[in-house]
Amino acid sequence: MALNGTGGYTGSEVSRVRSSHRFIPFVMASLAACFLLVGCGSGGDTAKDSGGTKPGDSTTQPDANKKKIVVGFSQIGAESAWRTANTQSIKDEAVKRGIDLKFLDAQQKQENQIKAIRSFIAQKVDVIAFSPVVETGWEPVLQEVKKAGIPVIVSDRRPDVPDDLYVTFIGSDFVQEGQRAADWLVKKTGGKAVIAELEGTVGSAPANDRKKGFDEVIAKNPGMKIVFSQTGEFTRAKGKEVMEALLKSPTGSQITALFAHNDDMAIGAIQAIEEAGKVPGKDITVVSIDGIHDALQAIIDGKLGCSVECNPLLGPPLFDAIEAVLAHKDLPKRTVMKDDQFDISNAAQVLPDRKY
Ligand code: AHR
Repeated sequence: MALNGTGGYTGSEVSRVRSSHRFIPFVMASLAACFLLVGCGSGGDTAKDSGGTKPGDSTTQPDANKKKIVVGFSQIGAESAWRTANTQSIKDEAVKRGIDLKFLDAQQKQENQIKAIRSFIAQKVDVIAFSPVVETGWEPVLQEVKKAGIPVIVSDRRPDVPDDLYVTFIGSDFVQEGQRAADWLVKKTGGKAVIAELEGTVGSAPANDRKKGFDEVIAKNPGMKIVFSQTGEFTRAKGKEVMEALLKSPTGSQITALFAHNDDMAIGAIQAIEEAGKVPGKDITVVSIDGIHDALQAIIDGKLGCSVECNPLLGPPLFDAIEAVLAHKDLPKRTVMKDDQFDISNAAQVLPDRKY
């Protein structure tokens, strides 16, 4: 069943999507009752598709036969502590709600995510959710999903596609995270710094947007200069490697501040700074994003100045959205996660309860 190709997923389209994927357990109960009471069918598609209840089978309990929601989720990989916490949140929430989650890890490759999405279409899952590793290149596969009549929910990073190719997008505001990191740094350094920037995965929404937000604020402060900017691929190992090389170069010796697009790269870079005989937090002020456990500890240890939170616990809002879309409820196009900010004023208070 194809959608009409002109608009997004309206309530009636989702309704057709849902019945085509045999997911109408509570509607099924009323239809079964209708068949029993008025003899309005002879065991046609609806009863068969809705999980095994047959007209005339008066012993069947609708709830016992309720068909599980099947969700396909394509995850980027396991590059950071943030990602691990995000995966756990999604898996835990699926188990909690009794949802059949088909979870595939793309190991940082867009081609693997496209393959995963195609396999979810072939399996006729009820909903497809994904976190796109990069921003561009998603339109053809999402058109295929639309043709198959399966609703798409975007988690964490938005792909650069027309709005009608997904139902809703849940995640943090990455531009604002970059701005908040820069605001903190301006304040901390009195508006004077020679900055190195460790960027996230090339072409990814958080790398693009955090850079945009950070650079915008820095550009308004003439005493602040970004003299180095390179990807550290959101990993601790790469963050360390890039920082090591930088500190050996003439540019590296001038650096007084570091902005890392995530905590893992910042922690890797802090190791490199220490191994180069410098003192993180004194010689080089470090600011990053995510708010993971190790970052809070590094703040308490005086090595990391600030971590702007990016909330990875997307499982609950994601599955709320999945259930809502299948229940024909209207959803906002965008849900922005609430994020905090940590520095020496609050890190010790937050650390004991930090799960990731
Ligand atoms: O998309 C969210 C980002 O991806 C996190 O900040 C980073 O740690 C992760 O890898």
